[in-house]
Amino acid sequence: QNVHVINHPLIEHKLAILRDSKTEPFHFRLLVDEISYLMLFEATRDLPLKPVEVQTPVAVAKAQKLATSVMICPILRAALGMLDGIFKLIPDASVGFLGFQRNETTLEAEFYYAKLPADHASRTAIIIDPMFATGGTAIDAVNFLKAKGVKDIRFLALVSAPEGLNKFAAVHPDVPVYTACIDEKLNENGYIVPGLGDAGDRVFN
Ligand code: PRP
Repeated sequence: QNVHVINHPLIEHKLAILRDSKTEPFHFRLLVDEISYLMLFEATRDLPLKPVEVQTPVAVAKAQKLATSVMICPILRAALGMLDGIFKLIPDASVGFLGFQRNETTLEAEFYYAKLPADHASRTAIIIDPMFATGGTAIDAVNFLKAKGVKDIRFLALVSAPEGLNKFAAVHPDVPVYTACIDEKLNENGYIVPGLGDAGDRVFN
């Protein structure tokens, strides 16, 4: 499987508070933001670089800059809580919004909105979503971007379920998933166990 579990004491610590049902919405938002920032650092470790020459106040330095432009794709709505943390690391990233709503009866993802930057096909896309449950939303989001010509895609999820990761790997083995944790399972309602509840509701309600 093309899954990378990002282990870091700060992420573990913040995740523990995030999971706590007593954590208030304002604190929950702050934690989602901070964990996203820390995870992005690892998820971008292999971004390609190109050599550049920079005139320092002293001499010309041989340096490197990113050889790719990044497009962050938050899946509405919960991922909007991750966006600020991402911008702290990649302030010049463009943003492509993807709207999917999981039908809570069928557990199928339903598409309702997308807005991508004009040059999306040439960018490295990082799809972000706090929750990777059945994997239906993730599969459809990647299908959408691939159909739009995006070649380089990676997925960043805070908490994932093994069932969803397996399903995703069978359809999109070329797309790496970066997650802070693989939880135990999905329950009969399609919620991640133990998870952290409904992230969208906890961020915005
Ligand atoms: C949640 C979550 C993911 C999706 C995961 O969003 O943020 O987008 O469900 O489920 P899946 O892996 O089973 O497809 P939801 O549909 O509740 O929308 P919201 O963020 O607007 O609340």
